[in-house]
Amino acid sequence: MNASAHDFPEPIFDVADLSTFELFSPVVDETVWFFTNLLGMIETARSGDSVFLRGYEDPYAHSLKITHREKPGMGYAGWRATSPQALERRVEAIDRCGLGRGWVEGEVGVGPAYEFTTPDGSVQRINWEVEYYRPEKDQRSVVLNRVQRRPLSGVPVRALDHVNLLSRDVTANKRFFAEQLGFKLSEHIVLGDDVEAGAWLRSMTRSHDVALVKDAGGGGRLHHVAFLYGNTQHLIDACDVLTDHGIEFEAGPAAHAISQAQFIYVFEPGGNRIELVGTPGYQVTDPSWEPVRWAQDTIDDAIIWYGSPLPAEFDTYGTPHSGPTAYRTPNRYVAAEAGMILRADSSARG
Ligand SMILES: [Fe+2]
Repeated sequence: MNASAHDFPEPIFDVADLSTFELFSPVVDETVWFFTNLLGMIETARSGDSVFLRGYEDPYAHSLKITHREKPGMGYAGWRATSPQALERRVEAIDRCGLGRGWVEGEVGVGPAYEFTTPDGSVQRINWEVEYYRPEKDQRSVVLNRVQRRPLSGVPVRALDHVNLLSRDVTANKRFFAEQLGFKLSEHIVLGDDVEAGAWLRSMTRSHDVALVKDAGGGGRLHHVAFLYGNTQHLIDACDVLTDHGIEFEAGPAAHAISQAQFIYVFEPGGNRIELVGTPGYQVTDPSWEPVRWAQDTIDDAIIWYGSPLPAEFDTYGTPHSGPTAYRTPNRYVAAEAGMILRADSSARG
């Protein structure tokens, strides 16, 4: 039996989705080449050291901001509130718990946002005001519920999907997302009696919008950011294209049991780990969903449903790098190749 009605906490639905993500890259041109030429995103704006991109089914003007920094990593994960009132409630809650940094001015495509950190120091923002993509007539889709025509470059991703944040204390960060932002726990890995090694949380019905996995180093590091295909064949087509253009694969194609998502993990030229998702897995519509608990004896099944095991470095590599690592630091071969293509393109243009 479920808990009685009296015991059941009122759920909070104040966060809609992950709407924008800022990625740092030491090689912005090469990183933009990866996302536009190979993954079919389109460039919507440039401002300062940043380039703004969108997938063809992203709901807002852009979903990805790529900014130049010496080291790879994340600038911020941007969440959209479900209403102006929801935004007010979340800002109050975050402020009360002491992790708020204050309001930041609007930027390209996004209105004022409230910035805060997770207990692990990962920078997040939440906001309400957004701009929508207004395509030129020749970029409009005939499908009226799709704002942008499907691009012809590479194998186009549909949209930003989720983020995975390395966390030194998974439980503390899980509680923060649950208590201050209203996220619900879909699944977790618990080692021994109570040491959480990973937690997958949703804001609405997607199996997870944020994942938190145990970090032995750093603090506030990015494990990966994920983009959605939603289709197995598109993921396999992407493997074909990415391989031909020298992109380094870490794992996959394979499927996780957690979330049931089909995946590949690759490194973009700046050194950040990117996940591409084929079929996205399950949705949670049950309001009294009991979080799925994986333990030491089922952890291998949890991580890999089918496909080869993940390399050991999957658990330790994040961006920015923490300490010396010989593991797939920014893929210089890919960066060099991308640079050659960009130079050839610009000299052909003249
Ligand atoms: Fe993921």
